[in-house]
Amino acid sequence: MIAKSTIDAVFDASRVEEVIGDFVHLKKSGSNFKGLSPFTDERTPSFMVSPVKQIWKDFSSGKGGNVIAFLMEHEHFTYPEAIKYLAKKYGIEVEETQQTDEQKEAANERESLYVVSEFAKEYFHNTLLKTEEGKAIGLSYFKERGFTPETIKKFELGYSPDSWEAFTSHAIKKGYKLEFLEKTGLTIVKGDASTGAATKQFDRFKGRVMFPIFSMSGRTLGFGGRILTNDKKAAKYLNSPESDIYHKSKVLYGIYHAKQAIAKEDTCYLVEGYTDVIQFHQTGIENVVSSSGTALTHEQIRLIHRLTNNITVLFDGDAAGLRASLRGIDLILAQGMNVKVCTFPEGEDPDSFARKNSLEELQEYLSEQSRDFMSFKASLLAEEAKGDPIKKAETIRDMVESISKIPDDIKRELYIKECARIMDISEEVLFNTLAQILEKNRRDNSKKWSKPQEQLQKVADDPKPVKKINVQHELERKIIELLLLYGSIEEEFEDVLLDSDENGEVILKPEKVNARVFEKIYLDLQEDEMEFSHPDFQKLYAEIINRFNQQQEFQVDSFVNSLQPEEAEAVTDILMEEEKYQLHDWERMDIYVKEKKYGISQMVNETILNLRRELVNKKIAELSNDIKENAPDQSQEHLQHIIDYNTLRKVLSEKLRRVL
Ligand code: CTP
Ligand code: MN
Repeated sequence: MIAKSTIDAVFDASRVEEVIGDFVHLKKSGSNFKGLSPFTDERTPSFMVSPVKQIWKDFSSGKGGNVIAFLMEHEHFTYPEAIKYLAKKYGIEVEETQQTDEQKEAANERESLYVVSEFAKEYFHNTLLKTEEGKAIGLSYFKERGFTPETIKKFELGYSPDSWEAFTSHAIKKGYKLEFLEKTGLTIVKGDASTGAATKQFDRFKGRVMFPIFSMSGRTLGFGGRILTNDKKAAKYLNSPESDIYHKSKVLYGIYHAKQAIAKEDTCYLVEGYTDVIQFHQTGIENVVSSSGTALTHEQIRLIHRLTNNITVLFDGDAAGLRASLRGIDLILAQGMNVKVCTFPEGEDPDSFARKNSLEELQEYLSEQSRDFMSFKASLLAEEAKGDPIKKAETIRDMVESISKIPDDIKRELYIKECARIMDISEEVLFNTLAQILEKNRRDNSKKWSKPQEQLQKVADDPKPVKKINVQHELERKIIELLLLYGSIEEEFEDVLLDSDENGEVILKPEKVNARVFEKIYLDLQEDEMEFSHPDFQKLYAEIINRFNQQQEFQVDSFVNSLQPEEAEAVTDILMEEEKYQLHDWERMDIYVKEKKYGISQMVNETILNLRRELVNKKIAELSNDIKENAPDQSQEHLQHIIDYNTLRKVLSEKLRRVL
C-alpha cells in the first residue's frame, strides 16, 4: 500500500496540464488548453484540459477525469502505478505502508472485500507454485493443458488446497476477518454466527485450480475455480457469488489483459470460457474477452464498446446453443456496434483450436471464417426453415427483429436488402415487418415513461433515438454543478414566503436572507424531502453536502481527486459542460438559461424551483393516471390531492416568474 501522505504529496505536486503535455500536444485556449484527442483519430481538437479545475475532458470519446484518470486511461496504469509514475516525475519519495490491524478495521467494507480478494489471489498463486500439493496437482494440470509458466504468471492462476479450511484458517491467522471472507464467498459459513451457535466454515474452492477475475483496472473481483476430477455431479466451474465488488453482469473475464490490444487492434474477440481467453493470449492474440458462459449483458458490451466499435463472437464447434446465443447478439447491435461471428470446426473450441495451430494459422482462420453477423444469421435460419413455410415466416420476423435493433438507418436498410437476397423474399415484405416492429418498440417505450431511469436507458437503446431530454435528470445535474462550482460562496437570496393577507388570501412575501449556496440548496431540497431520481447524482449529492457540512472548505480539484474513477468521470463531465460550448457551437434545448451573467443566487433559486415544479408535475401526472386506471373508488381523495398540487404548482410558477 502506498502511504496516504505520499498520495497527498503527489496530488499537491501534479499539474494536469504538465502531465498530459507529455503525451498530447496542447495549445493554450482561453483559460484552458486544447489538443487532438489521444483516444480517437481526429483532425479538429476536442480534447480539453482545465488547469483551474485540474481536470481533462475528451469530447470525442466522452472520457475525462483527473490526472490519475488520464494515466489510467492513456497508459492503462492501475491506480498505484499511476501514483508511482507521478511520484517519479515530481521527485516524490514513495512511502509504502504495511497495514496494521487497526487500518484493516477502519478500511471501509468494499475496500476490505478487495483486500481479501487480493490476498486470496496471492495465496492461491503461491500455493500453486510453491507447495508440494499445488505443484503436483494444480501446476501439472495447467501444464497438461499447455499453459506455459509465463501464462500462468500473467493470469495469476492458482490452486486451492484439497482440505476443508486450509485457506480460511490461513487467512484468519493473517488477520483477515471471517465476515469479509464470507462476503466475498471465499469461505462458506454454516450455522448462525450472530447467536454464536456452533458454526462451521470451509473453503468454497477446495481442491480446484483458480482463475482470478480482474476488473478493467486490474483489481481482483472474484474467482472461477475448475474442478480437477471427473465427478459428473459436481459443477465443472464454481464461481464467486455476487458481492459488493463482484457483479457478474458487469465483468468480462480477460478485460484487464485485453484492453490495450482491443483499443490498438480496434476489434475484440468474444469467447465463452476462461481457457479460451488464456490460450488465445498464449498463441499471441490478446484482444479477447470471455462472458464466462453466461448471456452477454448490456453493461458487459459497454465495457468493450469503450475500447472499440467492432466485435467478433467466436462459437464452439458444437452447434448446440448456437441459436440461443444469437439472441444475445441483438444487444450488441443495439449499441450500434459492428458484429461478426466465427464458428470453429466440429468438436473444437477456441481453446483447443488455438492450441493446435500457430499464430499465423489462427489469424488466417479468423480472418477467413469471420462473417458478418446478419448474413450469418440469415443463412443459418434460411437453412433451418427450408421447405417449411410456417417456420420461414417465424424466421423472417426473427431476422427483422435483429435488424430493428441497429440504430443506424442506412445500415438497417442495407441489411434488409441483403437479407431479402439471402432468404429469397421480397424487400417489401421485410420493410413492412420492420416498420411494424419499430412501431411496436416505440409504443413499448412510451409506456415506460413513469420510470425515468428505464426511460433514459430506452432512449439510449432505441433504434431511432427520440430527441427527448429528461428534465428532472438535467435539473439534478445542474444542482450538482452549482454545488461544485459555487457551493461555499455566500450569497443574498431573495426568498418569497407564503403568507396570507387580512382577507385570508394567499400572498407571496419577499424576504432577503444571506446563506451559502450549499445551505440554501440543502435546506430547500430537504423541505420537500426530495430524493434524486438518478442514483449517481444522489450519491454525489450526499457526498458533497457531507463535505460542506463537515469542513466548510471545499476545493473542486481535491474533491475530484478523492473520488473513485467512475465518479470522478461523472463530475468532470459536469464541470466541463461550459468548455463543450466553447469548443463547438452546439445548440441545446435549454430549460434554464445557461448564461452566468445574472447572479448565482438567481441561478440557484431558479434551478431549485424548476426541480420542485418538475416533481409536482410528475406527482400530478401520476395521480391523474391513477384515477384513470387503477383506483376509481379513490378518485375523490385523489382529486383533492391534484387540486392541492396544482395550487403548489401555481405558487412555484409565480416564484419562478419573480426570480426571472
Ligand atoms: N462455466 C461456469 N460453470 C460451469 C460451466 C461453465 O461458470 N459449470 C463457464 C466458465 O466460465 C467456462 C465457460 O462457462 O469457462 C465455458 O464453459 P465450458 O465450455 O464448459 O468450459 P471451458 O472453458 O471449455 O473449460 P474446460 O476447457 O476447462 O473444460
Ligand atoms: Mn474447453
